[in-house]
Amino acid sequence: ISTTKKAYFKDNMDGTTRERLSQIQAIPLPERVVKYWARVETFQASNEDLLIATYPKAGTTWIQEVVDSILNEGDVEKCKRAPTQMRMPFLEMTASDGSSSGITKLEVMDPPRVIKTHLPVQLVPRSFWDAGCKVIYVARNPKDTVVSYYHFDRMNLYQPEPGPWSQYLEKFMKGQLGWGSWYDHVKGYWRERHNKKILYILYEDMKEDPVREVTHIAQFLKRQLSKSTIEHIVQMTAFSAMRENPMANYSTIPDSIFDRTASEFMRKGEVGDWKNHFSAEEDAVFEEHYHKIMSDCPIAIRFTI
Ligand code: A3P
Repeated sequence: ISTTKKAYFKDNMDGTTRERLSQIQAIPLPERVVKYWARVETFQASNEDLLIATYPKAGTTWIQEVVDSILNEGDVEKCKRAPTQMRMPFLEMTASDGSSSGITKLEVMDPPRVIKTHLPVQLVPRSFWDAGCKVIYVARNPKDTVVSYYHFDRMNLYQPEPGPWSQYLEKFMKGQLGWGSWYDHVKGYWRERHNKKILYILYEDMKEDPVREVTHIAQFLKRQLSKSTIEHIVQMTAFSAMRENPMANYSTIPDSIFDRTASEFMRKGEVGDWKNHFSAEEDAVFEEHYHKIMSDCPIAIRFTI
């Protein structure tokens, strides 16, 4: 862990100025991601690699912990071997000088590697599809996603300033936040789920019945686990347990990057917190836009909460 920590600090102690977004194929991404895009595009995935893909704030960290726990058969100590971002690197993320990145971490890891990405399906490096990699896609209802993203952008000093909530909500609806349109993101992976090896899961289903969903994920990963191991994993990865686990709650990220006076990373972990943020008028406008833009996608109905 000491070498891991060193690498980690090198990765992140490179300035704390809030960043602007730039674009790849019309998708807004942090400037640093765009600057080193060639490395992402040409990344060589191995057949054994597993990709965890999400739009930001869908519960990525939660599913990462679930997956690592499944692969380690519920062994708590093994899962505490390093912080999340070292165990399961963030594919496209990079230090602003490129000295360290998700890819530099992945290059020194042996397959099977578990890799996090927020890239929309069309930007996932080709080698993942050529190699026939499995993908777990997690989607979360858009209203809770945008609320979570707003609080994250308040605390993450690498992200652009969120500005006032009402303007932030408009940007979300226009697809102007980092990693682009939530609507296109969830629809893109949905359309591809049968053409590629994609397990499509919902945050709300995980909250409703984590035993059922963790069992499903274990089956997808071809891991035979006993009922008691599954139940143990559900306990290990519950919000309350992860919030207290320094290897799963991002507490190793320095305050100069995550301003915890603005918000916590492990904030609420609930379904329906949007009700504390949306005004009645904002909700009406959001709903109308949502039904228009999602009418061509059968999954849309599952996000109605
Ligand atoms: P909130 O801001 O609504 O609390 P990501 O990992 O994609 O950045 O998503 C972060 C969101 O997932 C945050 O949502 C966080 O609290 C929530 N989360 C993290 N671990 C969780 C868990 N074990 N159970 C439920 N929600 C969790």
